[in-house]
Amino acid sequence: MASFIKEQVTSVTHWNETLFSFKTSRDPSFRFKNGHFIMMGIELEGRPLLRAYSIASANYEEELEFFSIKVPNGPLTSQLQRIKIGDEILLSKKPTGTLLQENLLPGKNLYLLSTGTGLAPFISIIKDPEVYDQYERIILVHGVRYVSELAYKDIISERLPNNEFFGDEVRNKLTYYPSVTREDYVNTGRITELMISGKLTQDIGLPDFNVKTDRFMLCGSTAMLKDCCEILNDLGFAEARRGNQGHYVIERAFVG
Ligand code: A2P
Repeated sequence: MASFIKEQVTSVTHWNETLFSFKTSRDPSFRFKNGHFIMMGIELEGRPLLRAYSIASANYEEELEFFSIKVPNGPLTSQLQRIKIGDEILLSKKPTGTLLQENLLPGKNLYLLSTGTGLAPFISIIKDPEVYDQYERIILVHGVRYVSELAYKDIISERLPNNEFFGDEVRNKLTYYPSVTREDYVNTGRITELMISGKLTQDIGLPDFNVKTDRFMLCGSTAMLKDCCEILNDLGFAEARRGNQGHYVIERAFVG
């Protein structure tokens, strides 16, 4: 296991029957950028079992945080969901990923569009004071099936706006837009529907999407990414690729 870092679980939160998150210790020399993912997992029968997970903590925090679904027969998550304080997890040494501010052309409004556990990298990004320096508005959309899946809701809407260092910026610039598709809620409908109908921009008081001002980061299922990219491409937005900055970046959320 020499090529892995070992860390210990320091807390576990079960949001509902299908979602949980946990924090681990962090070696101070472990560096990553907000928005990065890493291979993370456990040792099972003497072998490492790892999957790609976005890091949900910010890069200045003392602990690492991960947000996961519980897949009943998922090789890793069926085990990982039983994790307890003091248990050991394995991490690869090289965080990576595309959901980085530096991959986007300068803009005014940053839309962070997520479904399910695709929220994770954005929890890191909305804790990044630099993102508030670079954008006038940051809109975090979280699409889920059921209200109970709105993990991190209180942290986003209550704790972060009271952060002693950048709470003012959060209150002035961050809009949290949770949307539920399979039961009644304040906002309902898939992200794609909210984009096409113009309901999202209307609800948050911004003009229609505009290539000059709007930037997007997307994280969700393969189908969600495909459909959102199609909408953005049709509107003339270009994905950042091969080191070239663009209007949007995408990352697939972990699913197994
Ligand atoms: P729906 O309830 O209509 O399937 P999942 O847990 O399956 O990843 O879904 C998370 C959220 O993403 C749900 O609200 C789901 O809506 C929505 N969703 C599923 N597929 C897409 C898609 N292709 N585009 C946008 N949203 C999607």
